[in-house]
Amino acid sequence: MVSDQIKETEQLEDIREIVEKIGSTRADLIPVLQEITNKFGYISQLAIKELSDLMSLPTKEILSVATFYRMLSTQPRGEHIIQFCESAPCHVVGGREVFSALQDALGLEPGQTSADNKWTLLTTSCLGVCGIGPVILVDTDMYGNVTSDQVKNILSRYD
Ligand code: FES
Repeated sequence: MVSDQIKETEQLEDIREIVEKIGSTRADLIPVLQEITNKFGYISQLAIKELSDLMSLPTKEILSVATFYRMLSTQPRGEHIIQFCESAPCHVVGGREVFSALQDALGLEPGQTSADNKWTLLTTSCLGVCGIGPVILVDTDMYGNVTSDQVKNILSRYD
């Protein structure tokens, strides 16, 4: 219980530092939420309440922004985030087969996190590198021209 309180205190301190660094106006909300997602993996209820105080914004507004953007999350995510491009140019060059292989290998539907908290599988719109589709982004590592045969090998790099 005491360690939970310490963790909460540390989280609040980190949130205050993020707001000090980025800013506390309405226009700063998305970058602040992005930084909180990067740091903690998701935006907790505690974070939303604290941001409401620090940025003088209603919690409802913060929650609505936090749940609108795919790059933000109000749910805990896995250690590695896999983003699969589901836009048409990647789709027509074999994206569907690669995505099936990815789902089979992970046993996950889009938006789900594995029971061991290792993986979160997300779909995304165009990542801006259509010339090398199908494309998978694992954390910040981009894989292009991916075939379904390569999926297991790519995942094994994160063991
Ligand atoms: S359509 Fe997949 S990267 Fe552009």
